[in-house]
Amino acid sequence: MTKRPEEIALLAEAGKLLADVFGYLDQLGLIGMSTMHINDLVDSLIVNELKARPASKGQYGYAYALNSSPNHVVCHGAPSTTDILQSGDIINFDITLEKNGYIADSSKTYLVGEVSPLARRLVQVTYEAMWKGIKAVRPGARLGDVGHAIERHARRNGYSVVREYCGHGIGREMHEPPQVLHWGKPRTGLVLREGMVFTIEPMINQGRNAVETEEDGWTVVTSDGQLSAQFEHTVAVTGNGVRVLTLRPEEEMLN
Ligand code: CO
Ligand code: CO
Repeated sequence: MTKRPEEIALLAEAGKLLADVFGYLDQLGLIGMSTMHINDLVDSLIVNELKARPASKGQYGYAYALNSSPNHVVCHGAPSTTDILQSGDIINFDITLEKNGYIADSSKTYLVGEVSPLARRLVQVTYEAMWKGIKAVRPGARLGDVGHAIERHARRNGYSVVREYCGHGIGREMHEPPQVLHWGKPRTGLVLREGMVFTIEPMINQGRNAVETEEDGWTVVTSDGQLSAQFEHTVAVTGNGVRVLTLRPEEEMLN
C-alpha cells in the first residue's frame, strides 16, 4: 500500500502522460463524434505517441482504452459506434495508463456544446467535491476525513454520493488496497501515511444515490434516470500533504 520514492516517481511519470491524454481530449470538440471513435483516438495516442499501455484493455475482460459514461450513466459505460455525442450532453471519460509497469488512473466529465445550467452546476460541484477530498489528504489524516469532506460538499449542494463504487490504492495493479470511500465520518478509518498512493473519484448524482447495472453487465446508471458526474485523480501522500500525480496543467494552482 505504501510506495517507495522511486515507485512514486514512476507513478508520476504515468500520471503526467495521462494528463497529456486529457489535454488531447480537451481540444477534440466531441460534438458529433462517436464514443468509439474517441476511444480509438485515445488508444492510438497512448500506444503510438506515448509508448504506454491503456491499462483497462484486458482487465476484467474489458476491451477498450476508456470508459465513457454519458448523462445518467454513473460509471463503467463502454464506447460504442452508435453513441454519438450531442450538444447538451455531459460525459465522463475514465482512463488508466500503464508506463514502465506502473498505472495512473484519472477521469474527467466533459460538457458537450451548450449544456444546461443545472447539468453544468452538477459537474462543477462534483469537481469541487473531488478537490475537497484531495485537500483532506495529509499524513496523520484518516480516510474518513476524505470521505466526509466529499460527501459534505455534495450534500450541501443538494446532491447525493454513489456508495457502490469507491477510490482505490493503485500501483503495479489498477486496484490495490485500501478502498477509498467518498463518504464517512471524520477521524475514522485508515490513518494516512507518507508514500500511500490511491485514487479519489467521487460519483455525484443529481437525484437519489441509487444505481443499477444494465443488462450488458457493465454500464451502471442512476435508478431515477437523473444525471451523474465524476472526476478522478491519483494522489500520493507526501511528508506534509498531498501530491496529485495526474494533475493537469490548468490545475497547477489548485495543488
Ligand atoms: Co478511473
Ligand atoms: Co479508479
